[in-house]
Amino acid sequence: MKARSRIWKASEMLQKVLCNEAPGHQSSSEGSPGQSGHKRSQSSHQQCWVCQTPRLSRGYGGELLLIHFHTNTVGPFMVVQEFLPLLKKAADRSEGTKLSVSRSAVVNISAGNGSITTATFDFPVIHAAVGYRVSKAASNMAMRMIAPALTKSGILDIQMCPGWVKTDMGSPAAELEVSDSIAAMLKTMEKLNESHQGAFIDRNGEPIPF
Ligand SMILES: NC(=O)c1ccc[n+]([C@@H]2O[C@H](COP(=O)([O-])OP(=O)(O)OC[C@H]3O[C@@H](n4cnc5c(N)ncnc54)[C@H](OP(=O)(O)O)[C@@H]3O)[C@@H](O)[C@H]2O)c1
Repeated sequence: MKARSRIWKASEMLQKVLCNEAPGHQSSSEGSPGQSGHKRSQSSHQQCWVCQTPRLSRGYGGELLLIHFHTNTVGPFMVVQEFLPLLKKAADRSEGTKLSVSRSAVVNISAGNGSITTATFDFPVIHAAVGYRVSKAASNMAMRMIAPALTKSGILDIQMCPGWVKTDMGSPAAELEVSDSIAAMLKTMEKLNESHQGAFIDRNGEPIPF
C-alpha cells in the first residue's frame, strides 16, 4: 500500500510539475503497479519477470502480459516520476539548455527486441517472447512520450539496448560479457546530447528503429 500510494503521489507530481494540470488520477487500485510485487514470487511460469519468456501455450494468458507490462513498462515510467524532483534539481544546477548525462538524464535500459520495425516473421512463436517484447516496445513509447517535457526540464531521455549480455537473462550463450556491455554504454553515454533526445539506441550509440 505504501509503495502504491507513493507511486500515485509521484504520478500527481509529474502532472503538476510538467503538465501544469490538476492530478485527477483514478481512485481505484485495480491494476496499479503495486500489485505486481505480490505476484512476483508466485509465478510458476517465470523466475524473472524482466527476462524469461513464458511459453505461448494454453498457459499464456493476459496475466502474464500484465506481469511483463508492470515490470518493464509501468515500473520504469513510475521510477522516472519518482525521481523527477531530483532530476530537475540536478538539471537546474547547469546554465543553458544543453542536455547531457553529466547534467541530468534518464537512460532507460531497453532492448532491441522491443523494436516493432525489426520484428521479423521468421521467429518461432514459442520463442517470440511476446510479453517481453510488447512491454519493451510500450516502454520505449512511454519514455518517448515524456521526452518533450523532460527537455523543458533540462533532462536527457534515452532508451538504450545493452546488447546480448551474459546475465541471468541473457544466458551464458550471450555475445557480451557484462563488463564489455557496460563499458560500451558508458562510453556512449558521455557523447549523448540534445540531438539524441528521446532516441532508441544500441550500446554503441547507433539508432535502433522503434
Ligand atoms: N541480458 C541481455 O541480453 C539483455 C538484452 C537486452 C536488454 N536487456 C535489458 O537489460 C536490463 C537488465 O537485464 P539483465 O540482463 O541484467 O537481467 P538479469 O541479470 O536477469 O537481472 C534482472 C534484474 O531485474 C530484476 N527484476 C526482475 N523482475 C523484477 C520485478 N518484477 N521488480 C523489480 N525487479 C525485478 C531482478 O531482480 P532480482 O535479482 O531481485 O530477481 C534483477 O536484478 C533489463 O531491462 C533487460 O530487459 C538485457
